[in-house]
Amino acid sequence: MQKHILIVPGDGIGAEVTAVGKQVLEAIAAKFNHQFTYDEALIGHVAIEATGSALPNETLTKMRAADAVLFGAVGHPKYDNDPSAKVRPEQGLLQMRKELGLYANLRPIKLFDELLEASSIKPEILRGADILFFRELTGDVYFGEKKRSEDRNMASDLMVYQRYEIERIAVKAYEAARTRRGKLCSVDKANVLESSRLWREVVQEVALRYPDVETEHQFVDAAAMLLIKDPKKFDVVVTGNLFGDILTDEASQIAGSMGMLASASVGDSTGVYEPIHGSAHDITGKGVANPLASVLSVALLLDISFGLKAESEAVIAAVDAVLKAGYRTRDIANANTPADKLLGTYQMGEQVLRHL
Ligand code: NAD
Ligand code: IPM
Ligand code: MN
Repeated sequence: MQKHILIVPGDGIGAEVTAVGKQVLEAIAAKFNHQFTYDEALIGHVAIEATGSALPNETLTKMRAADAVLFGAVGHPKYDNDPSAKVRPEQGLLQMRKELGLYANLRPIKLFDELLEASSIKPEILRGADILFFRELTGDVYFGEKKRSEDRNMASDLMVYQRYEIERIAVKAYEAARTRRGKLCSVDKANVLESSRLWREVVQEVALRYPDVETEHQFVDAAAMLLIKDPKKFDVVVTGNLFGDILTDEASQIAGSMGMLASASVGDSTGVYEPIHGSAHDITGKGVANPLASVLSVALLLDISFGLKAESEAVIAAVDAVLKAGYRTRDIANANTPADKLLGTYQMGEQVLRHL
């Protein structure tokens, strides 16, 4: 199979982890006899420094032309503590999602058995947890009108959803639920927010088309609690942009670490595959970031954008084998991890390649 992949490392550890992701793509191409070609493009802080824009036109053009995008992360501490900055790295990411119509963000929360001890949650609560989040990605308070009063003392962000936006993400989530354990939980705040009342109304309508799927509605505050109390009760979760952002960082603790969580952003055009974590400047340049979220994003890319199931499963099996062999990066290690099994980013990548 011939495919063109655009690598967009972005900022901070984005460059470190996508370098490993690319090596895995190369290894898969060699093993399964595919012809993958690659190009790179800038986004985020590095793009602002080079061009003045967080998403240069050249990057967007390359994204549209690619068969898939492997994305790292954006963000820089310089902006995190400067609310007045007008041009910000995160704008690049949000504009990319909007421009490419990436309305569905799939975030699988899959606990590898070997990492039962890596989480701060009790093993008996965790064992067998397997959740697939559908986070709506191009609407909500992220993209509603933003205002600041003239005297600068009042600010607002409009939380807004349109029927079609809710319907299309709900349909995707229901279709997935059908192929899994047949359960869907929709998360909103319909007891308070009008946009959530529309959300619930639309999901209830879509539910009628999927009588074979068991539907449940939860308020976001209760859902946050239930995720930790009893993660096994969830199969597919569908929710809005903001709630999905927050709940999936929380749910990363079910999988052991932020460094384990991959995601797929899909919709109208090229799919983008990225870890859910950010640029992690606290560990940038130290060579200790866990690259497995990027590696697992490659597995999603192969499966969803290219339909290469065996290749995707080979990547997941390699990650499983590496963890079974006891190798850990710092974020998933514990006091019992022997020194010779504690690996940096690059070495962890090498182990994945060896097990492929
Ligand atoms: P973060 O995800 O970057 O880091 C949170 C914590 O998790 C940090 O302690 C970090 O060291 C750790 N961590 C994250 N990824 C890891 C990995 N692969 N291996 C080991 N440890 C890992 O979130 P933050 O600190 O809140 O944000 C930092 C910057 O990243 C901000 O500028 C933010 O806007 C941006 N951000 C970007 C994205 C994205 O590009 N998709 C996502 C989240 C945050
Ligand atoms: C994510 C990030 C982004 C989001 C930020 C960096 C804009 O947290 O991809 O989860 O909130 O969507
Ligand atoms: Mn996030």
